[in-house]
Amino acid sequence: MTARAAIILAAGQGTRMKSSLPKVLHPVGGRAMLDHAIDAAEALGCERIVVVVGDHSPSVRAHVVARLGEGAVAVQDPPLGTAHAVRAAEAALAGFEGEVIVTYGDTPLLKASDIAVAFGGEGVTVVGFEARDPTGYGRLLLDADGGLEAIVEHKEATPDQLTVTTCNSGVMAASASLMFSLLAEVRNENSKGEYYLTDVVELARARGAATRAVMANEDAVMGVNAQGELAQAEALFQSIQRDAAMARGVHMPAPDTVHFSWDTEIEGGVTVEPYVVFGPGVTLASGARIRAFSHIEGATVGADAQVGPYARLRPGAVLGAHVHVGNFVEVKNVEMGPGSKANHLTYLGDGSVGPRANIGAGTIFCNYDGFFKYRTEVGEGALIGSNTALVAPVRVGANAMTGSGAVITEDVPDGALAIARAKQVTKPGWAQEFIEMMRARKMAAGK
Ligand code: UD1
Ligand code: MG
Repeated sequence: MTARAAIILAAGQGTRMKSSLPKVLHPVGGRAMLDHAIDAAEALGCERIVVVVGDHSPSVRAHVVARLGEGAVAVQDPPLGTAHAVRAAEAALAGFEGEVIVTYGDTPLLKASDIAVAFGGEGVTVVGFEARDPTGYGRLLLDADGGLEAIVEHKEATPDQLTVTTCNSGVMAASASLMFSLLAEVRNENSKGEYYLTDVVELARARGAATRAVMANEDAVMGVNAQGELAQAEALFQSIQRDAAMARGVHMPAPDTVHFSWDTEIEGGVTVEPYVVFGPGVTLASGARIRAFSHIEGATVGADAQVGPYARLRPGAVLGAHVHVGNFVEVKNVEMGPGSKANHLTYLGDGSVGPRANIGAGTIFCNYDGFFKYRTEVGEGALIGSNTALVAPVRVGANAMTGSGAVITEDVPDGALAIARAKQVTKPGWAQEFIEMMRARKMAAGK
């Protein structure tokens, strides 16, 4: 296979987002749009990836450097058009002799499989699509044989050309040498005064080089320019995730209410009830049941475990097989052994719960003193009484118990019972006398 490189354009201002966050860092499925674009380039087998960033957004640059290193950044300043942007990547690709593909940082649904066909052609290949509404897009002008003659931008198009619905997705591939030599010829004599990448098609033809269009699905190439389109991209992304999950055998009675992240790993045989949100980093094993209105991120849920309704699993929650986490229970950075249960109104933060241990209603792992966090260890088979405060660092041994309402500040040995509450005092008849006395007083006061 010829070596491949990708140039991802992300130097636009993104002003229509009306956001302090640069456009390409907005998330779809919990992942920055730019990362989706880089994922696609990696999946295409691109050995070099260059992201063209503007001088106006240091955070985009930092994002690229963190993921791909300094060598992957090319700065375009000022932004003078898409051809100018691709040229900005030339130095970063010095010495590269294979094929390059140009993509955008704001097309989060584009997958490698949608555009892999763009490689391997002679000359210049453009990825096109049939637009439901072609307004604003460049139009692909095809000859009688379906060959690509030119791309005309909406602003430059004649009324006749405006009726064309076959549009330019923006994705273009060619050998690096052809691409950069054509780009050197692009002029900016057009209504926007910009250097249009799309002009390389006519320039290639003029040289006698081949040009062709390959087609992709409109949804796959959709670009995000404003918040409404971001929401549309998210909706499409979610529906793709749900369909894939259901195709694997995930049971979801109300799929439209379930929100996935880009990396949610969910095996067939999992049930997800309505109104569940999966943040990034979630893995669910077969037989698990996520009950309604639960919020789960950074967590692993074992086979046949039950979570919710109204449960919250935060990063580092690792639930073994058959674990039950019930309503209004929050688990963070705690490993729960197989068969353990925390069914009601509980906070488990930083620690571990042994196999088959039972955590009573209202239990709190008191993990934080305002400065540092500490761990709570609950042993195998332990029974934590309702409303126990476990003041970390502390350990409750295997098969140990705590009495209801305990405030546990010292370790409880294996098999022991710890009671840590004031002893009950009962005064026979006291309440009855009190009630009668107070009633009489109230009557005397005429109320
Ligand atoms: C571009 C195409 C158009 C196509 C459409 C698809 C050109 C001239 N037009 O139009 O044919 O139908 O995309 O969505 O290529 N960018 C830079 N530097 C610049 C200008 C743009 O990095 O100087 C980046 C933007 O951040 C964006 C991408 O290039 O990611 C496309 O730019 P945009 O201004 O949105 O182009 P369109 O007018 O939509
Ligand atoms: Mg655009």
